[in-house]
Amino acid sequence: LLQNSRQNNTAWHIRHILSARQFTREDLDLVLEHAAAMEILVKEKGWSNTLAGKVMATIFYEPSTRTRMSFEFAMSKLGGKVCGTENAKEFSSASKGETIEDTVRVLSYADVIVIRHYEQGAAERAAKVSAVPIINAGDGPGEHPTQALLDLYTIKKEFGVFDGKTIAMVGDLLNGRTVRSLAQLLTHFSGVSIIFVSPKKLRVCDDIKQLLKERGVAFTETERIEDALPTADVLYMTRIQKERFKNPDGTANEEEYNKYKGVYVLGLDKIKQMKDKAIIMHPLPRVDEIPVEADADPRARYFEQAKNGLYVRMALLDLLINK
Ligand code: NCD
Repeated sequence: LLQNSRQNNTAWHIRHILSARQFTREDLDLVLEHAAAMEILVKEKGWSNTLAGKVMATIFYEPSTRTRMSFEFAMSKLGGKVCGTENAKEFSSASKGETIEDTVRVLSYADVIVIRHYEQGAAERAAKVSAVPIINAGDGPGEHPTQALLDLYTIKKEFGVFDGKTIAMVGDLLNGRTVRSLAQLLTHFSGVSIIFVSPKKLRVCDDIKQLLKERGVAFTETERIEDALPTADVLYMTRIQKERFKNPDGTANEEEYNKYKGVYVLGLDKIKQMKDKAIIMHPLPRVDEIPVEADADPRARYFEQAKNGLYVRMALLDLLINK
């Protein structure tokens, strides 16, 4: 099954996964199909040995639960091994002043390196000197391409097609890297429209809007979540990215964060205004933007979405290492 889904498609040409903009429509079709094969594998057999003898290094300079664990589980389920560090800012030689470039040069005995870093562009810098494939698991406010791929997989699984769907992205669109990556992937599907819902000061960046215009994707911007509720097929909630609110000297700017904290809360009153067949997504972790009462609503998909991360990351690891 895995071999079929690899062979049925155009050749895989991506060496490092750094940004959503690397992916062509053919690449996306291949990843989605391969992830579906992985889901069947996990559900029917549970594991395979396609990556036996391979080792994945994970180096996380920023906190993570889902992303790191699902990468580690993905590698394990394909028979590979995992070595890594969380809290790399403190536990790795970065605390002694080592650069990310030197760190990945040393890790050249790994078969793939998954990096999460607090600086935008860090994964790209690592890839420039790395002898082995690098996966960007989040670079500051930059991108989170593997999250966007699992988001895409979740939407595809729900609706089958993207054509005619309206995706509303809600929250801190300035600093949210998952939104930046997902918006870029959505440009490959005709008939998609996007509603960006954010406070004025946390609007999605111009580079993304420029790309949407170039590729003819219809989008609107609003501050009111109510504008999106009745039309959205996918309501993609995100948290206000507290760690990005900084004073010029680098210390946390709580005051600025507190201005936006709690601006969008998807209470049951709001969920009522949504279409029956719409879905609620969230990359997680949530803070207060989706209250737990929402979890019982049949439209909630965020936990299933997180689970899809396993299949999509299995597919990506297999494609990168076994291509
Ligand atoms: C996201 C991230 O790290 O950007 N989390 C994740 O990987 N699922 C979203 C977030 O932290 O808000």
